Amino acid sequence: MNAVAHTQRWWKEAVVYQIYPRSFMDGNGDGTGDLPGIIEQLDYLKDLGVDVLWLCPIFPSPNDDNGYDIADYQGILSDFGTMADFDNLLEQAHDRGLRVLLDLVVNHSSDEHAWFQEARQPGSDKRDWYIWRDGKPNGEPPNNWASIFSGPAWEYDDLSGQYYLHLFSRKQPDLNWENAEMREAVYRMVRWWLDKGVDGFRIDAITHIRKEPGFPDLPNPKNLSAVPSHEMHRNKDGILNYISELCAETFAHYDVMTVGEANGVTIEQAPDWVGEDQGRFNMLFQFEQLKLWGTEGNDGLDLAKLKSTLTRWQKGLEGQGWNALFVENHDIPRITSTWGNTEHYWRESATAIALMYFMMQGTPFIYQGQELGMTNHPFTSLDQFDDVAARNLIKEWRADGRSDADMLADLQSSSRDNARTPMQWTRHTNAGFTIGRPWLAVNPNHQWLNAADQADDPASVLNFYKAMIRLRRAEPTLVYGQYDLVLDDDPQVYAYTRSLEGEQFLVLCNLSDDAWQGELGAATPAENGFCLGNYADAAAQPAIELRPWEARLYRL
Ligand code: GLC
Repeated sequence: MNAVAHTQRWWKEAVVYQIYPRSFMDGNGDGTGDLPGIIEQLDYLKDLGVDVLWLCPIFPSPNDDNGYDIADYQGILSDFGTMADFDNLLEQAHDRGLRVLLDLVVNHSSDEHAWFQEARQPGSDKRDWYIWRDGKPNGEPPNNWASIFSGPAWEYDDLSGQYYLHLFSRKQPDLNWENAEMREAVYRMVRWWLDKGVDGFRIDAITHIRKEPGFPDLPNPKNLSAVPSHEMHRNKDGILNYISELCAETFAHYDVMTVGEANGVTIEQAPDWVGEDQGRFNMLFQFEQLKLWGTEGNDGLDLAKLKSTLTRWQKGLEGQGWNALFVENHDIPRITSTWGNTEHYWRESATAIALMYFMMQGTPFIYQGQELGMTNHPFTSLDQFDDVAARNLIKEWRADGRSDADMLADLQSSSRDNARTPMQWTRHTNAGFTIGRPWLAVNPNHQWLNAADQADDPASVLNFYKAMIRLRRAEPTLVYGQYDLVLDDDPQVYAYTRSLEGEQFLVLCNLSDDAWQGELGAATPAENGFCLGNYADAAAQPAIELRPWEARLYRL
């Protein structure tokens, strides 16, 4: 048993709760969640046991991409409240010992940001803060790159007669990180929030800030919409210089937490991004596991790949850096619908998946509603989708001749809107989220799947999450201990140990619809070693037998 010499940090011991403010709680009855709504629910969050709240963007925005298109980095979207509401939220959170992270979206701004409006003017001294190019002589855009949200990555601006680059929607022009003045303006803004007392940032789409020099065409453009031009702008050489400067000019001077959204960073490269001696980010949201989501047609769970991917990240950062642990966020469908069995083992699969990721080495993130086992929305028609990514896809698929039924089936399992339906607080009208008309439809299953009912049910998903959080807080081994996979090739069970200074725990999760029997060898639990399980009578059962989607935690 090797103890891993990790330095102790508050953000390693924390559990983070991600809030999608538009859908969390509506305080003023206009149908949209807001900051006063979050304040109303701080006691719920405190009672759940989390330590840190990450708020998705709360800044003024025309909401083309629900706030990820920011029009003013230092204001509050009026739908969500005022700066006084934010200050109040920060104070009330801090009073309860809860820290607050904001979302830093600086690969791009909104086209309605004053910086971009100025930059559009020919001759403006902010012209170079964005990326402008002439079209090709034949009238085509400057190159053949595709946007991550479908269609070309360039938009023609008739005011200046040039095109601007937008890797996401056309209302999200990319900032030009080669411009030192632009970078300095970003750093000033970040320091302003840190001086206000925010406790860190989740850093959006940050691996896209460096583009291939010269902006060449993709040599063999395949189906551009299916394969956005990632190789031209994702984790390109030289990007770490920008990351180093960003961190040195801002976070390094504060005791804060940073987690970068890191599409394209491999485990081999991860130590450069989060190695504790590098002075860059604390953690990354890695995308290798997202490839296992099976969103296309919902292929379900590939357990062998899941084990090998997560184990590579656990062992790859061991002793060097820290993992961010997650199974949900606002960009992916609900995990119980994707990997679990919502029909026959909804509660069991929601809790088994939870234990599987939660006890690994790293900081666990919970996305709002995940702690209730919220599921995908039963969308019945294409006009119910709100997300700009879905709307662009529908346009493009329609042009390709795909049938409505086919598109609907695809988006039912893959759309980001699945994660964005309102939080289910009660069994009553609109799930207690709003007294108004909700901006996005509430899932009808709130009549039996909601926080109020689960609070009173000892066997609920909610109470399982509370128990996991309590245990992790009480046991340093579950925070700092070394991770080792056991039952490597077992096709049903994900099992691992955590070890620290002579203490050892075993996590056993049957991620399948079938019962399991096996041998645990050296990982056989001691008598009375049972700590937690998702079947009521689990303490009395032998560890070598698990029922469908049964998950247990033992002390060895
Ligand atoms: C990130 C966000 C996503 C957003 C995109 C563009 O991936 O998580 O919601 O659409 O960046 O900002």
